[in-house]
Amino acid sequence: MKLTDPHSFSNLNEVVITHTDLNIEVDFISKTIKGFVCHTINNFSGTSSLVLDTRDLKIDKVILDGNAIPTEYEIGEKVQHLGQSLSIGVLPETKSVTIYYSSSPEAAAVQWLYPKPDEDKQPFLFTQSEAILARTWIPCQDTPSVKFSYEARVKVPTELMAVMSASNPTKKSEDGIYIFRMEQAIPSYLLALAVGDLAFKPLGKRTGVYAESDIIEKAAYEFEMMENMLEAAEELYGPYRWERFDVLVLPPSFPFGGMENPRLTFATPTIIAGDRSLVSLIAHELAHSWSGNLVTNATWNDFWLNEGFTVYFERRIMEKLEGKDYADMLTLLGYQDLLDTVKSLGDDNMDTCLKLKLAGRDPDDGMTYIAYEKGYFFLLTIENLIGREVWDAFLIGYFRNFAFQSMDTERFIEILNQEIIKNDKELVDVLKAEDWIYKPGIPDNCQMIISNRFKEVEKAIQLWFSGQNEQLSVSSTWSTQEWLHFIRHIPARLSVEQMDDVDYFFKFSESGNAEILCAWFLHVINNQYSRQYDLVEDFLCSVGRRKFLMPLYTAMIKTDEGKKLALNIYKKARPGYHYVSYSSLDGLLGIR
Ligand code: BES
Ligand code: ZN
Repeated sequence: MKLTDPHSFSNLNEVVITHTDLNIEVDFISKTIKGFVCHTINNFSGTSSLVLDTRDLKIDKVILDGNAIPTEYEIGEKVQHLGQSLSIGVLPETKSVTIYYSSSPEAAAVQWLYPKPDEDKQPFLFTQSEAILARTWIPCQDTPSVKFSYEARVKVPTELMAVMSASNPTKKSEDGIYIFRMEQAIPSYLLALAVGDLAFKPLGKRTGVYAESDIIEKAAYEFEMMENMLEAAEELYGPYRWERFDVLVLPPSFPFGGMENPRLTFATPTIIAGDRSLVSLIAHELAHSWSGNLVTNATWNDFWLNEGFTVYFERRIMEKLEGKDYADMLTLLGYQDLLDTVKSLGDDNMDTCLKLKLAGRDPDDGMTYIAYEKGYFFLLTIENLIGREVWDAFLIGYFRNFAFQSMDTERFIEILNQEIIKNDKELVDVLKAEDWIYKPGIPDNCQMIISNRFKEVEKAIQLWFSGQNEQLSVSSTWSTQEWLHFIRHIPARLSVEQMDDVDYFFKFSESGNAEILCAWFLHVINNQYSRQYDLVEDFLCSVGRRKFLMPLYTAMIKTDEGKKLALNIYKKARPGYHYVSYSSLDGLLGIR
């Protein structure tokens, strides 16, 4: 098979990196990461060049096999989204290539955070490499179809601790030097580093949490079930292959809910709701330890192989831990996201196919709920057609047989044909795999789900908005998911008095739960309920998670007055956002 990846310059069909040694220093004053990286290569074709991906890196020199004399290299033209190629002349017998470099203060993967003058805090740094941002802090073959082990030596200011997607310290070192080892082979998008005034608290034998000391206790309470989760996951789909599963709680500007960096999931603090109601996100990142980190999408066009499988696995974990009723609520909320996405993209939009065509575009543009939820419903549909037992046995084999490899959609279909479909014409017809994968929209055989708990919520909405609120008694036992369903189904147009009533009675604006706040603020904005605009602004200025920012700003810019408000808030908030969030928002708000 000829390997190609439209989002990498690398000649991965000629030569691959098998191991990486990183030696860097993190400098908070110049906002740079500086040092060298030594890649061990397997030049299986005997090619005369190794092409790497870089973006905004300054290359100082390149050395082959530890020689004293630097070698020739060439840096290519800038290509939008992709950065620049770095072509290094090599010989068939070359074993390693060392690149001395430094990153730019604008490196897209990296966010540098500094305390405000009145804050008794230390600086913080974190990276976000998925999808193609690893190249902004390490020159590498930045493609998910090449896997390598790595070691790193990282020097940071002595007040701070460094952690990576690797074996991690539990205490600060005296000299600010940290050594990391990742013996399992990983793709570049799982390279991750964070530096901060971190504390560690163990939760179980193989699990623990890292966070700044002011939130470590809260985090430990919230994630108390992590060890159980890990065991539940192993019971479902086989052994955990990464030794430890720890979570790092990041500052609120982290642009995602979670990122499945191996051994150390990075997570937003917005999942610390105080009542453990948002831990399915941890189940999601844990599930990636199989779907994504063991069996990896070969290119970003196959993104659904990472995310669709992970959502499926996440819901199976949650079903095991919290019961089917609970998992069904997650599924229905996901189904609503799927419908909204298909509606907003259009059901003939090719970005609603599972197999994406992202060549020439930023892969980020195609990474919607489609991969997650259409992917999920495709797998659920398979489960329902062939039965859970057969399907689970297939998945266990899939994760075992293709561990530490990359997988594309076509190969997956081939495997499914060999092991499950086996030329069963009838099954082919009812499954409609081709429609799911290569056609836009939602196929008509999509397995539907009902939730009894949500039925109750719908009754309550009915009662409330028909003025019979005195009969409303169920709500005191509701979970976050029921409240989300409630808020999402509040009538779209409410008068100021109705908004007052709802907010007075249910206290949504005072919620400490970011999911609830975000869902409620959509009504605040859509109804121009200006009384709570300050809270919307506070939220947008303190949280950088793109999933919350995009819908709120999108709702605001629907009116002229709202657009002014949005631009005003954005001016204040943008400096606090990570590149991933502000680059999407710049596009949305028409800036630059
Ligand atoms: N791997 C993703 C995050 C990601 C996706 C980073 C695309 C870069 C490009 C992660 O596992 C994820 O899906 N996070 C979700 C959590 C969720 C669906 C529970 C998020 O951040 O909201
Ligand atoms: Zn994911």
